[in-house]
Amino acid sequence: MNFLFLGDIVGRAGRNAITEKLKGLIDQYEIDFVIANGENSAGGYGITEEICNNLFEAGVDVITSGNHIWDQKETMNHIIREKRLLRPMNFMEGTPGRGFEIYEKKGLKVGVMNLMGNVYMKKCEEVFPYIDEKIKKINLKKEIDFLAVDFHAEITSEKQAMGHFLDGKATFVVGTHTHTPTLDYRILEKGTAYQTDAGMCGDYNSVIGMNTDNAILKFLKKKSDRLVPVIKNATITGIKVVADDETGLAKNIEPIMVGGNLK
Ligand code: FE2
Repeated sequence: MNFLFLGDIVGRAGRNAITEKLKGLIDQYEIDFVIANGENSAGGYGITEEICNNLFEAGVDVITSGNHIWDQKETMNHIIREKRLLRPMNFMEGTPGRGFEIYEKKGLKVGVMNLMGNVYMKKCEEVFPYIDEKIKKINLKKEIDFLAVDFHAEITSEKQAMGHFLDGKATFVVGTHTHTPTLDYRILEKGTAYQTDAGMCGDYNSVIGMNTDNAILKFLKKKSDRLVPVIKNATITGIKVVADDETGLAKNIEPIMVGGNLK
């Protein structure tokens, strides 16, 4: 099974790049299953039902998210109906929606898990003790054939620790949220593919996808307008993971960067 994981889709530029190019990438890289983090796709703040449906139409199988998932009011109801939209699994008990789901593809069971870190992030359950307990009932080649993990977190050490913590238990663990791709893609010792951050699908001539002038004004502690996404020239950024159908572990991981300003 070949997976494509796409970093956070930021605003219209990111959405348009996906609509225009994803089908071609799926063909070119022989992709079977596409996961994309969509929590910044609605003008940088959350996601709407219409955007979800457009992304599914474009070829995305499952949309993950993070701290911005509730930015659009409609999501509270939509996420209950839409099994292909995930929110972090370690949100407090009773939160609408789900953070883990199993999907059928090519007769195989693909588990997709969305987790959120604790350092510099909104309040949620302590992610390591939480997943230490949950992962006991989510085993490769028992309950699922593959496990894809989006770890939405701010700092690199927490993400690397999670990669090693789930090594041998997940097909791949990839970070999101910083909107900046890292070059540390590799397969860990026990067979889990890993990259600290997938980057974003958005315009990199920006501050993490958002208007540069306003972002600098905020850091200068001066009055600024609300941050809005830059919508000129998006790069699609993510990873391709080739997974072994027999073991559910990774055989290869490669970065994908298409279009826009990134070299
Ligand atoms: Fe985020």
